[in-house]
Amino acid sequence: MPVPGAADRDETTAARSSGSTGARALTIIRNYFREHSLREVFGILAEQYLGTLLRSIPGAEGLALRSLLYRGLFKKLDGFAFIYQGAYIDHCHGISAGRSLSINSMAYVSGRGGLTIGDGVLIGPNTVVVSHNHNYESRLRPISEQGHRLAPTFIGDDCMICANSVVLAGVRVATGTVVSSGAIVTKDTEPYSIVAGIPARHIRYRDEPTPDDQPLTHEEVYQSGP
Ligand SMILES: CC(C)(COP(=O)(O)OP(=O)(O)OC[C@H]1O[C@@H](n2cnc3c(N)ncnc32)[C@H](O)[C@@H]1OP(=O)(O)O)[C@@H](O)C(=O)NCCC(=O)NCCS
Repeated sequence: MPVPGAADRDETTAARSSGSTGARALTIIRNYFREHSLREVFGILAEQYLGTLLRSIPGAEGLALRSLLYRGLFKKLDGFAFIYQGAYIDHCHGISAGRSLSINSMAYVSGRGGLTIGDGVLIGPNTVVVSHNHNYESRLRPISEQGHRLAPTFIGDDCMICANSVVLAGVRVATGTVVSSGAIVTKDTEPYSIVAGIPARHIRYRDEPTPDDQPLTHEEVYQSGP
């Protein structure tokens, strides 16, 4: 069936897929197993089935069960995590997170390429945090068959990733950064900065402590909990 825009195709380098739909599906599955160990595949299945069972449980029991689940599935998760109803987390084997993590409803967080999250991080509703992308440079194969580019991604201590924002793969969100709602973070941020817009740009810094302030130590703030 003709596809809108098909006339734009460069016929000399048109994407050559692996053939039938079945063959294409096989290529995608083969790539998936190439990119993951068997142990990771079982972890992914566990996060899909158990995540689906627990994702919509309301109240304190929902929070407690999801915290327990992700403590088991993450590479590392310190203490209790507030994972709200509807948050979707995948490739948990690649995620290391500190204390007091909060992931709000409908956020999508993926540890596929390796995701490190510090202490006291708030991830807002409808946000997207990814650590991988599809390879897409070659014209000779469909993007869906080119495999993935993994890019370790980092979110420092005390960051707030506000509603509807996106943190792209490979970015370092520095300690104390506030990512404003709707921003798309394409580059590393500066410590204690507030960034906004698409692409996210520095708008200002958070307040400096005054000489009269008596800041708590990191340990005092994030007392080791359960
Ligand atoms: C990050 C945030 C809290 C900053 O708010 P703020 O301190 O009041 O920001 P400021 O008033 O200092 O804004 C400075 C400038 O940035 C702009 N700005 C603020 N937020 C912006 C945003 N989300 N996108 C684009 N620009 C923004 C302001 O318009 C202002 O521009 P101007 O100087 O040209 O007038 C706010 O932008 C935000 O994103 N709030 C949403 C919080 C949220 O999602 N909460 C749910 C978490 S669970």
